[in-house]
Amino acid sequence: MTVYTATVTSPVNIATLKYWGKRDTKLNLPTNSSISVTLSQNDLRTLTSAACSEEYESNRLFLNRKLESMETPRLIEVLKDLKKLREKVENSEGNEHLPKLSQLNLLIVSENNFPTAAGLASSAAGLSALVKAISKLYELPDSLSEISKIARKGSGSACRSLFGGYVAWEMGELSNGEDSKAVEIAPLEHWPNIKALILVVSAHKKDVSSTSGMQLTVKTSDLFNYRINNIVPQRFEEMKKSILEKDFNKFAELTMKDSNSFHSTCLDSYPPIFYLNDYSRRIIRLVHLINEKSVKENGKIIVAYTFDAGPNAVLYYEEENEKTILNVFYKILSEVTGWDAQKFDFKNQEYSKG
Ligand code: PMV
Repeated sequence: MTVYTATVTSPVNIATLKYWGKRDTKLNLPTNSSISVTLSQNDLRTLTSAACSEEYESNRLFLNRKLESMETPRLIEVLKDLKKLREKVENSEGNEHLPKLSQLNLLIVSENNFPTAAGLASSAAGLSALVKAISKLYELPDSLSEISKIARKGSGSACRSLFGGYVAWEMGELSNGEDSKAVEIAPLEHWPNIKALILVVSAHKKDVSSTSGMQLTVKTSDLFNYRINNIVPQRFEEMKKSILEKDFNKFAELTMKDSNSFHSTCLDSYPPIFYLNDYSRRIIRLVHLINEKSVKENGKIIVAYTFDAGPNAVLYYEEENEKTILNVFYKILSEVTGWDAQKFDFKNQEYSKG
């Protein structure tokens, strides 16, 4: 029995300029462009293997050891697109010898090393890993931006996880989505000393999924139109510039403002959507306190928060300020259970070895 396999990992990406709103729910076309940072391969990530064989009787997907359906409209769409690209490879001149993988069923095995659906962008890592793994299995020659359009159909924000580092998702204008794709702003090495700290204040599944939350906001929020027309277009350009110039003050300010703007449109939805909880709000206040102090001392913002569709915080900071930031947060938030402090030895103030 011949089994063809490919394995990849795909890290979580955390938006610093949020995607919130769809103009086309089937194709996952957004109402605004967004920007994110893809965490390093060693952080939160999905590990996915894709395999195909003549012996497989159906398409199957194991997610965190549980058998899940592959018959969802989104996955059907994603597989159709990937198979089409593989067929193109198989039918092109000189490739007659290639096995007809496009005609075989797939077996996908995928595992996250973090809580699924707790506002930690698990769908982004999961869907991008699935698309990457199948593209690798099929040996597709297409560019990452091209493949990102397929990942986008599976889960909007997944398109950004195809790239490492600093990534933009250009919303595009076309109704068929052909220009709605992820592009690299800069690789991780461009600004390597930026660190992300994830404060898991709750590992529960979120109450309102991002898809239904977005729809409610688009339909009912008065602030929403102002955000997408008057705020985001300029912020998108400014944030790209701050990344290219490694201007942390600007990057941090824009990131925090955009998280607040996105959560305001959630609160302005009717009925309102609450993703933040009391811990999230304490984190926000603390970050502003830390920054006020350091701005007074040397004019520098040293830490930025951002929250997705859940209460967990992602903090961005430059590596040289790590101890200051971790010490403050440990003292104040050590009572929160489930806070992801595993990697840090707070007594010795360093990452634990091994
Ligand atoms: O791609 P989705 O449907 O999981 O939506 C992601 C929405 C946010 O995480 C809140 C923002 C973003 O740009 O990632």
